Amino acid sequence: YLYNYSILPFLWKAQGLLSELSVLFAFEQGKILENFGICTQVSFVRYVQGRKTLGADPKLFIKDLWFEKVPVRIYQPKAPSASQRRGVMFFHGGGWVFGSLGKICTRNISTHEELCRFIARESESVVVSVGYRLAPEHKYPAAYEDCLNASQHFLQHLQHYGVDPARVTVCGDSAGGNLAAAVSQTLAGRSDLPRLRAQILIYPGLQALDFNLPSYQQNRGVPLLFRERAAFYMLQYLNGNATKLEEVLEGSHIPPDIKLKYQKWVSPDNIPEEFKVRGYKPRVLLDCTTEVYETVKRFCEPTLCPLLAEDTIIQQLPESFILTCEYDVLRDDGLLYKKRLEDNGVQVTWYHLEDGFHGIINSFNSGWLSFPAGKRGLDSIVNFLRSL
Ligand SMILES: *[C@@H]1O[C@H](CO)[C@@H](O)[C@H](O)[C@H]1NC(C)=O
Ligand SMILES: *[C@@H]1O[C@H](CO)[C@@H](O)[C@H](O)[C@H]1NC(C)=O
Repeated sequence: YLYNYSILPFLWKAQGLLSELSVLFAFEQGKILENFGICTQVSFVRYVQGRKTLGADPKLFIKDLWFEKVPVRIYQPKAPSASQRRGVMFFHGGGWVFGSLGKICTRNISTHEELCRFIARESESVVVSVGYRLAPEHKYPAAYEDCLNASQHFLQHLQHYGVDPARVTVCGDSAGGNLAAAVSQTLAGRSDLPRLRAQILIYPGLQALDFNLPSYQQNRGVPLLFRERAAFYMLQYLNGNATKLEEVLEGSHIPPDIKLKYQKWVSPDNIPEEFKVRGYKPRVLLDCTTEVYETVKRFCEPTLCPLLAEDTIIQQLPESFILTCEYDVLRDDGLLYKKRLEDNGVQVTWYHLEDGFHGIINSFNSGWLSFPAGKRGLDSIVNFLRSL
């Protein structure tokens, strides 16, 4: 249906074949962005239209491989290097539902192909992009397990790829940021593998207890991620369907005593005041039926909602880079995780795009059609990697 925005990522997959239909979506979404003063409607439509086909990369070797049972695409700089390179495990975004490695050298390329190439080239790193299993066919923890498995395999075979065991980073955007945070937490406790050097979380989704945080209230209708969609994707990943979406949105899916237990970590009180000036209404705690809670109780597992990990885990996490966007429902997830990391003595580099919206990083390379903020965000990520 025309008003089902979740199909937008699909349209991007069909890059060169963008139909009149998608332009229609783009116009609708562009209008909303324009109303928020983020960009003009037209520049948004051009961005959607401007995504293009990629051929071979003169500076990179690009190969499709299997790590254990997980398909990956590896990007290795061609230029000779005197020393071992950095390694980056990359988990793409797309609400656990969209995104894939796609095919190389055809029109059907992945949403994150350009991004991975850019990171590999500009930070002179070996990048491994993971084609993890997607919801709703494959429910939690399939995606997490694939990302973990592929990461373990990479960490066990770094020498084969000329990667320095002291400089491996996990990185992901949106749902991929969630996966990167979860994998990072699991690996933090492993003494049999090289310790991660860093984690890079690009507008990550990190919790499902509260979809009424200030950023959710302020940006509920801002593309590319509407508030309702964020909850919808979380439920698709968890259960393979979006039953109980209404309860999740209003906050009657988790019993008050459990919410109170996590309030020290998931609360609007932990969001700095400057992020509430665009509007925020405090909410009362709602009751929750056993039946509803039964459906969603795995939301309390840190491998699904990394914001809920114990301090003992958070303390062991590697140096972190977090990117947030002002016009993004997931902004506060990032801010809350930043606070948890800092409270536990983990070094955080935080980059906030005042004029950014969810998904903007993928726009960086659309030539004169791209959003400058997307490029700024990506440059900050590359600079961070180069500092490692
Ligand atoms: C991959 O994950 C499965 C569980 O999904 C596990 O049994 C297996 O040992 C893992 N492989 C590696 C190399 O960790
Ligand atoms: C949705 O998923 C839950 C949990 O897997 C399941 O119990 C329920 O039957 C599903 N509902 C529908 C309508 O498919």
